[in-house]
Amino acid sequence: MASVEEIFERYLSSRIFKDREKLLPDYVPEELPHRDEQIRRLATVLAPALVGSRPSNVFIYGLTGTGKTAVTKYVLRKLREKARARVEYVYINCRQNNTSYRVLAELAKYLGVKVPFTGLALGEVMKRVLRGLERKKRMLIVVLDEIDNLVKRNGDDVLYFLSRINEQLEKSRVSLIGITNDLKFMEFLDARVKSSLGEEELVFPPYNAIQLEDILEKRAREAFNEGVLEPGVIKRVAAIAARQNGDCRLALDILLKAADIADREGSPRVTLAHVDKARQEIEKNLTIDVIKTMPLHVKLTLAAVYLLTRRGVKTITTGMIYDTYKDLVTRVGIEPVTQRRISDVINELDMLGLINARVVSMGRYGRTKVISLSASVKSVEEGLSEDLIMKTVLGNTH
Ligand SMILES: Nc1ncnc2c1ncn2[C@@H]1O[C@H](COP(=O)(O)OP(=O)(O)OP(=O)(O)O)[C@@H](O)[C@H]1O
Ligand SMILES: [Mg+2]
Repeated sequence: MASVEEIFERYLSSRIFKDREKLLPDYVPEELPHRDEQIRRLATVLAPALVGSRPSNVFIYGLTGTGKTAVTKYVLRKLREKARARVEYVYINCRQNNTSYRVLAELAKYLGVKVPFTGLALGEVMKRVLRGLERKKRMLIVVLDEIDNLVKRNGDDVLYFLSRINEQLEKSRVSLIGITNDLKFMEFLDARVKSSLGEEELVFPPYNAIQLEDILEKRAREAFNEGVLEPGVIKRVAAIAARQNGDCRLALDILLKAADIADREGSPRVTLAHVDKARQEIEKNLTIDVIKTMPLHVKLTLAAVYLLTRRGVKTITTGMIYDTYKDLVTRVGIEPVTQRRISDVINELDMLGLINARVVSMGRYGRTKVISLSASVKSVEEGLSEDLIMKTVLGNTH
């Protein structure tokens, strides 16, 4: 075991990183390759703010890791530099602030208005926000990132309030930028909110492997010392992320983790083997996260597939899963759901990529669905064990 001293010394003498920060998810680089069109369009929409005219509201959507947050922050930063004090923006993440109250409280805080952490009626908070805005006498751009989190939990009353706020303002103006990766999100909205928020729409398509390579090359040049990456490392990382819907965050995660593993091993270079290790580690964590948040019946169904796999059953059918599931349910002491419902759950698990279900012909017995585990046994076990009930149930089957 290395001592603390040794760990720190080794880190200080690491030859891998020039500037590790440049790979962290929150860092917004000076260059965002392959997003020129989105940058230009957003800049065009926001430009009227420079001459004191209210920009249209913008609704931005695209899959996860396609650069929506990075591009928005980048353009707003440039806008603020150009506008000096005349234009301001406030960035609110609606996943971290996931109630109507907290979103408005964040806005109030930005405006320098006092709002207690909880306790006021929403209408009162709205009143204070309005007063704060009038006092500012500014053009304010309000960014609501991951906005679907807010609406799913709380409905769209805050959005309704914000989208009509200009009617109640005399000395200030507000524009909204709403961002989401949930493409169905718009369906949740009231028609008036929808048309107001979507005055302009901006779509972020996923990156392909070649684009991801470009992006990673640039970020790697800032983050690593020269010659540290074994040839092919970036190509492999880009290929993996391109298969996962062109998610640039995943690409950067894998690259950083691979470099950290290399560093920990005291290796002078980041190799393809480090990339594979990093990917396995990240996949395992993703699997565990997905399983953790599943409802109990879904966990029990997955546990049934897991147990049958561990027992070495070669051809797992829906019927077997249902029998095992019923057995587990009895141990937990709750009522089983119907086999029909478990069939649906099996399809859900298939879609999540945790299991694989395919229909095969069984000769004169007709066709049947055969199920196998696609996630690793180890990660399923760890994911399920995070739930105390599941841990107890599985513990008793050993
Ligand atoms: N064109 C690009 N050039 C350099 N880095 C990029 C580019 N696009 C995205 N990134 C980086 O990839 C990561 C993910 O991007 P970002 O956070 O903007 O995704 P997002 O579209 O907001 O995803 P989500 O919907 O999950 O919030 C960030 O670290 C960001 O800096
Ligand atoms: Mg984002």
